[in-house]
Formats: sequence, structure tokens, C-alpha cells
Amino acid sequence: MNAPRVAAITGASHGIGAALVDAYLDLGYAVVANSRSIAPQSTATLETVAGDVGDPALARDVVDAAMGRFGRLDTLVNNAGIFIAGPFEDITDEDYRTVMRTNVDGFFHLTRAAVVQMLAQGAGGHVVNLTSTLVESASSAVPSALTALSKGGIAAATRSLAIEYAGHGIRVNAVSLGVIETSTFSAETHQLLDRQHPIGTTGRITDVTRGVVYLEQSPFVTGEILHIDGGQSAGH
Ligand SMILES: NC(=O)c1ccc[n+]([C@@H]2O[C@H](COP(=O)([O-])OP(=O)(O)OC[C@H]3O[C@@H](n4cnc5c(N)ncnc54)[C@H](OP(=O)(O)O)[C@@H]3O)[C@@H](O)[C@H]2O)c1
Repeated sequence: MNAPRVAAITGASHGIGAALVDAYLDLGYAVVANSRSIAPQSTATLETVAGDVGDPALARDVVDAAMGRFGRLDTLVNNAGIFIAGPFEDITDEDYRTVMRTNVDGFFHLTRAAVVQMLAQGAGGHVVNLTSTLVESASSAVPSALTALSKGGIAAATRSLAIEYAGHGIRVNAVSLGVIETSTFSAETHQLLDRQHPIGTTGRITDVTRGVVYLEQSPFVTGEILHIDGGQSAGH
């Protein structure tokens, strides 16, 4: 019997990340799930690794867990991310450092470690990144320069890495999200946020998991930024 494919998913204690863990388990993958506060768990198909993606050592821990427990790493989902909105002039140095450390440093360290492992295996691989449509379609109602700065870099790097590693069979894709109902946004703000989407509602976590599963199962798709945003990227 072939060993199951293995996915590492960051930011997996709740929200979209936790749902992605279930989605990959349903696909028959073994999963290494990370977040800072994730509960210790070690089953036949799931291993958790607690830690901050901004810590360079965490990337090694995640790859080591995949190799030590399951013997391979096929997919990395860079889901850990934070959102700090507000007028640009009010952004503090700490806001800036926190967002860049989580969104950009985390992406860099995890992706590099995963790509090194995938290249060593020589069997291709897949990296999926989570970005925001605010990057390309700014809203006066939601000033989000830190999101544009951090997630915008990830969206650009998605296409760049897709080309760099296409010859090695390593695909790199992203999902670009509108507002998805998670703890990032309070229930009271949802009605206001509905109006930010041409389609008239915010998205559900299942909209995101369906998109990521599509990318995972589409060997001819790389460098794609799949918009799951209720039409925001098309216009207002
Ligand atoms: N929800 C939306 O509307 C929306 C829109 C656009 C883009 N996104 C992107 O989608 C992704 C998931 O969003 P979400 O709404 O599900 O977020 P969420 O509900 O706030 O969950 C974030 C997850 O990331 C973990 N996390 C936060 N900082 C971390 C760090 N430094 N190291 C490791 N894990 C960390 C959190 O767990 P711990 O606290 O245990 O670390 C949690 O599991 C993010 O990249 C976000 O930017 C979301």
C-alpha cells in the first residue's frame, strides 16, 4: 500500500485552517497541523506542531514532523495570517512588525523549508497561499495597507514561485478571499461587510475549502490566484 500524501497546514487551530485540516483528511492525506495554541494531538493521520510561524525554527519543526511521522511532505498550506486594519497614519511599529512577522516571515520560512523537502523527494508538490482581494481592490471603507503590503507580496510570490518550480512539478497557487465568516470579524459587523461584496453576502469557510481542494486536485493549474470573494475582484 502506498503511503498517504502529506499536507502541512499552518494556522490550523480554528477558522479556515481547522476546516482545511478536515478537508485534507477527507481527501485521504495525513496532516501536520500548526498554530501557536494548537492542542497536542498525535493520531495515525494527524500530528500537531505548536509554534509561531514567524519563528524560523518552526519551519524545520513542521517539516521534521511530516518526515518523522509520515515520511514525506507533498503540500504546504500557508494559512496562518492576521489582519490589522485602520488608517495608515495610526498603524504602530508593533502592528507593522506583528503583521510582517506572521504574514511574510511565516510564508518565507515555511515555504522555503517545504520546497527544499519537495525538491529532495523529487516527486513534485503543491504550495497554497491565502491572500485577500483587498490587495488588488482597495476599499475606502476598510483601510488595509498592511494587508496590501504583506499579502500583496505573497500574491506576487505565488506567481513567481510557480514559474521557478514548474519544471520540478511543484505547483504554487493561492486563494484570494473576500470576507469569510470567521472569528476575524465579529457577528455585528457581518451585515456591514455583506455590502462590501457585489454578491451581497460574506463567504463561508466551506467556500474556501472547496477552492483549496479544487487547486489541490488540479495538476494542470499553477500560478493561479483563485478569487473566492463574492465578485469583489471583478468590480463594485
Ligand atoms: N476570514 C477572512 O475574511 C479572510 C479574508 C482574507 C484573507 N484571509 C486569510 O485567511 C487565513 C485564515 O484566516 P482566518 O479568518 O481563518 O483567521 P483566524 O480565524 O484568525 O485564524 C487564524 C489562525 O492562524 C493562527 N495563527 C495566528 N498567528 C499565528 C502565528 N504567528 N503562527 C502560527 N499560527 C498563527 C491562529 O491560531 P493561534 O492563535 O493558535 O496561533 C488561527 O488558527 C489568513 O491568512 C487570513 O489572512 C481571511
